[in-house]
Amino acid sequence: MSNDDATPPSGRGARPEPTDDTEVTGSLRLFPGGGAVDWEKLNTRARIAMTRAYAPYSGYPVGAAALLSDGTVISGCNVENASYGVGLCAECTLVGQLRMEGGGEIVAFTCVNGDGGHITPCGRCRQLLHEFSAETMYMLTAEGVTTLAEMLPQAFGPRDLAER
Ligand code: THU
Repeated sequence: MSNDDATPPSGRGARPEPTDDTEVTGSLRLFPGGGAVDWEKLNTRARIAMTRAYAPYSGYPVGAAALLSDGTVISGCNVENASYGVGLCAECTLVGQLRMEGGGEIVAFTCVNGDGGHITPCGRCRQLLHEFSAETMYMLTAEGVTTLAEMLPQAFGPRDLAER
C-alpha cells in the first residue's frame, strides 16, 4: 500500500476499506536484527493504522507505529468514546499491541494525523511510551528525528523502580 492510499475514516462507526490485515495487526518483521530504521516504512504503517481510527467526536484520526528492538513493527490508532474522557490515544492501543505481540522495547516511533502530518504524543502518552522504550528511543517529528528523552526529560520509569 502506498502512502497515498492512507485516507482517514469518516463518520461514526464508518469502517475503512479492507486492507491486508497483516499490514495492520501482524508483527511484520520489516527490520530483522533491528538494523537502520526505515522511517518511510514506519510512516506507512502509521498511516495505515490511522485509517483504522475511531474518532467520531474529535474528527481527528491518529495512527502510530513503532519498531521494536527485534525488528517487529507494531501500530495503533485512537479509539474515542461517547464518554469523551475515556477515549484512547493511538499510543494506548499501540502499547496494548506491543504486549499482545509478545512484548519488547521500542527503538523508533512515529505518529501521524489524518493529513499524514507528524504529531508528537501528548504528555500522558510520552509516559506510556517511556515504559516500553529502549535505552534510546528515536522519534520522527515534523522537525526531524529526536529522542523520547528530549520529549520527556528526567522521566520517571521502570529503571527507577528497578534500583530500589
Ligand atoms: N490523540 C492521539 O491519539 N495521540 C496523541 O498523541 C494526541 C492526541 C488523539 C486523542 C483524540 O482522540 C484525538 O487525537 C484528538 O485529541
